[in-house]
Amino acid sequence: MSSVIVVGTQWGDEGKGKVVDLYAEDADAIVRFQGGNNAGHTIVVRGKQTILHLIPSGILHDHKMCMLGNGMVIDPKVLIEEIRYLEKENAFPPNTKLILSDRAHLIMPYHRRVDAAREAAKGAGKIGTTQRGIGPAYEDKVSRVGIRVCDLLDRDTFAEKLRRNVEEKNFYLTKLFGEQPVDAKPILEEYMGYADVLRPHAADVSLLLDEAIRQKKKILFEGAQGCHLDVDYGTYPFVTSSNTVAGNACCGAGVGPTQINSVVGIVKAYTTRVGSGPFVTELADEIGERIQRVGQEFGATTGRKRRCGWLDMVLVRQSVRVSGITGLAITKLDVLTGIDKLRICVGYRTESGEEFATSVPADLNVFERCRPVYMELDGWTEDITSAKRIEDLPRSTRRYVDTLENLAGVKVVLVSVGADRNETIVTENPFRR
Ligand code: GDP
Ligand code: IMO
Ligand code: MG
Repeated sequence: MSSVIVVGTQWGDEGKGKVVDLYAEDADAIVRFQGGNNAGHTIVVRGKQTILHLIPSGILHDHKMCMLGNGMVIDPKVLIEEIRYLEKENAFPPNTKLILSDRAHLIMPYHRRVDAAREAAKGAGKIGTTQRGIGPAYEDKVSRVGIRVCDLLDRDTFAEKLRRNVEEKNFYLTKLFGEQPVDAKPILEEYMGYADVLRPHAADVSLLLDEAIRQKKKILFEGAQGCHLDVDYGTYPFVTSSNTVAGNACCGAGVGPTQINSVVGIVKAYTTRVGSGPFVTELADEIGERIQRVGQEFGATTGRKRRCGWLDMVLVRQSVRVSGITGLAITKLDVLTGIDKLRICVGYRTESGEEFATSVPADLNVFERCRPVYMELDGWTEDITSAKRIEDLPRSTRRYVDTLENLAGVKVVLVSVGADRNETIVTENPFRR
């Protein structure tokens, strides 16, 4: 038995796609368990970039099962476009199977419309969502009116659920937001077209995983977003609408917690955030601009510039605790090359004397008053992108890694020094422990 969960420890875009692609070589099944096409996971292999929004980042390997779990929200149009894109690029390996949970919920056109209308109505107080309809789709799931993949496969059921939803959503769109209503008929025809394409992929993911586990196969769970975008443990309400922490891998894929062996937390060597919300270590100076430029910190989904700042270990420590992280993968260390003095945030302090070192305040009013407490380390100037072992790194780079490891209280199992699959130092493979 060997199951590994990969989660982001910050606000997303930590480099989960790269690490999952790398670990996928040793896995038999790779499973996404939450989120939807708000995610943008980038993989670079021998200079060729692939960006995935829904399909698990194991897809570039042959002889795998790539699964979209019940905890996800699926925009079928985007999923089909992604399948076509991979086929066109000759990047869909012949013996790899793509499996879509019949329990996953569908993103419908009215979800995208409500997402956009609500953001527009919020004005300056907007969340800065990806406007992909993620929140409204999860709302419908929880309020028990959602439409699932299994419904898509039955025209009558789908048509009836669609009719009821459109009635309600049109009331909401027109009366509350002054928007145009949606028309159920073209949606029905459009989605029936998607049903034909997706039918062969639909299955009970939990059952298939159970079989795989019984056959001692290796399972890799791919998180999307990051622990601080989690709807319970993130900077609420500036979060996404799913649980992004490791525990949700079990619910979102249909496996028991007793099946999980290790949890790898991805830590970008600095912090970024897309969209609104508090960010204690954000840099509004030339160092922030430099990190943004060198790290090419643009959202892979919306193309928005990512906000950048110093590494915040309060965030990471909370993620280690809440996700039960057993190993850390540090990414984008190369982006810090050439910065004279590096800072790491080891705690927060408010004017009224409150202190936070291992947990983030729940109350956003308190969070917004938090100021960072930094330690300072020497930077390095050497090019580190060809390092293959920890010993190849300059002394001050190693000190940065050791400091991060000590502050987190969890060992570092991987260091990424460039975007390409091979620009990686693996100190411990979680599947070969
Ligand atoms: P994800 O959402 O966590 O999968 O991360 P994204 O793919 O959205 O963003 C990470 C970006 O950094 C992608 O463009 C990756 O190709 C790139 N990347 C990943 N690891 C490294 C690294 O170690 N160094 C550099 N320079 N880029 C990296
Ligand atoms: P990956 O998997 C970074 C952010 C959005 C917004 C908030 C809510 O690539 O790390 P949503 O559309 O989910 O309702 O938006 O969450 N967000 C992400 N930020 N990386 C992501 O995914 C994100 N997915 C959502 O920018 O602030
Ligand atoms: Mg991303």
